[in-house]
This record gives sequence, structure tokens and C-alpha cells, in this order.
Amino acid sequence: RLTAPDIAARKGDAEAAPIVALTAYTAPMARLVDQVADVILVGDSLGMVVYGYDSTLPVTVDMMILHAQAVMRASTRALVVVDLPFAAYEAGPVQAFEAAARIMKETGCGAVKLEGGAHMAETVRFITQRGIPVMGHTGLTPQAIATLGSFRAQGRERAQWPQMIADAQAIAEAGAFSVVVEAVAEPLAVEITKAVHVPVIGIGASAQCDGQILVLDDMLGLTPRTPKFVRRYAEIGAQAERALADYAQEVRERRFPSPQQTYPERKGDQKA
Ligand code: KIV
Ligand code: NA
Repeated sequence: RLTAPDIAARKGDAEAAPIVALTAYTAPMARLVDQVADVILVGDSLGMVVYGYDSTLPVTVDMMILHAQAVMRASTRALVVVDLPFAAYEAGPVQAFEAAARIMKETGCGAVKLEGGAHMAETVRFITQRGIPVMGHTGLTPQAIATLGSFRAQGRERAQWPQMIADAQAIAEAGAFSVVVEAVAEPLAVEITKAVHVPVIGIGASAQCDGQILVLDDMLGLTPRTPKFVRRYAEIGAQAERALADYAQEVRERRFPSPQQTYPERKGDQKA
């Protein structure tokens, strides 16, 4: 399997292609993603995508562990990174270590991810020094929805850039092996990518980042509304809708099942 240091080493390697990252929350999706991705994120976005909450705040460590175990069973190649959910790490480095260590021990994942800028640097240093690789996450941080007010792009004004660059740098300097930068002005994403010494993985950021990540369900067209930064590579939701309508109609017209899907009576003179 790829390791956190393998991913970190991609920074500044002119030969290396950008890092391909996607979310997965279940075994079947992890099996698919593992064939193409360097990093699989078991994101706390599962709270919204799988469980139907309107934010990621209700997600618990127990939920993350169950999904991460499924993803680990179904993947062999990609680095699996697991989100620390809201209120599982913000109280301080010891709380963060305990949550992250439990996730690593119970899932076998290769790293954890946490949200926040300079104020989380001490926590990142504490847990990386104790053997837990950490991916940072700055820019739009969805766990801060209640203080932000809404999910919207950050750093649209140049005056905000120095602080936002410093936030990503602080996390990298504290020992993070990579930093996700979400929903920021494109030229700011370019500046962050230049300023940070570990791979910057963009989502709603810039093609100049060191890698990209998307929520799998968004890019497959499984979620009803997607943010501006999502390219829908398929419309699986619409395809599923057509399949379900066909099934319902065929059941109602007694056209399903046909002999192909039924078991004929076994005659007495036949073997096996
Ligand atoms: O939870 C998630 O899916 C994420 C990605 C969008 C980066 O944090
Ligand atoms: Na997340």
C-alpha cells in the first residue's frame, strides 16, 4: 500500500503526476476507487451523503470506524485517510491523539485528516510526533458551518490571503504530510501550493495544486445538487432512476420475473 511518506514525497517531484484522491465510504465503492486513486478519503461528508444530515456535525468516531473498516477490507493499494469528526479532536492534542489512535488501531488506516489552520498546528505536531500521519484541511472547513453561516468559497479577497497561506503553512510545518485546500479563490490556491512544502490537494481550488480530491458520489452524479467545483463525470443517479422505473413498471405488468429469472420444477428422471 501507498504510505503517507509516499504521498509527501510527491511534492517537488517534477516527474510525478498530480495525486488522485477520492472519497469512499463503503466496500463496493472503495473497490472501484482503489483501482484509480492514490488516496481514498473516508470523509465525514458521509454524514451528509450517506446519512442525510444537513451538515457533518452529527458524525461520530464510531460511524467513521465502521465505514473505514469496510473501505480497508475492500482496498489494497491506495492510502486510506480517515476524517476525525467534529468535536472528536478540537478540545486539545490529547483528545485528538486518543480519537486518532483509536481509529488507526481499529481500522488499520494509514492516516487521519483534521480541519483547521494555525490554531490546530499544536495538535498536528503532537499526534504526528506520536506516530499518526495527519492530513490537514484548510480553506472552507465544513465542520465550522455554524460559525461560518454557509458553505461558500473562501479567500475571494486578496486581503484574506496572507492569513490563509499562513494557516496551510502552519499545518504543514507542524508535520502534516499533505493539506487539503477546499473552495478557495483559484489564484490563492496557486499561492498556497507554492508556499506549502507538502502536497496541496485541491477541491474547488486549482488545477495547479499537487493533487485533486472530489466526493465520489458528487462526481458520479449520485447527489442531487453539486457545488460549482464538481465536474459530474457520470449521471449514475439518473441511470438508477430509469432502472427503478423500469423495474416498477415490469412488476406491475407481471413482466418480471420471466423464465430466465425463475426455477423450473425438477422432473423425477433428471439428475442433479
Ligand atoms: O469529508 C470529505 O469528503 C472531505 C473532502 C471533501 C475533502 O473532507
Ligand atoms: Na471532511
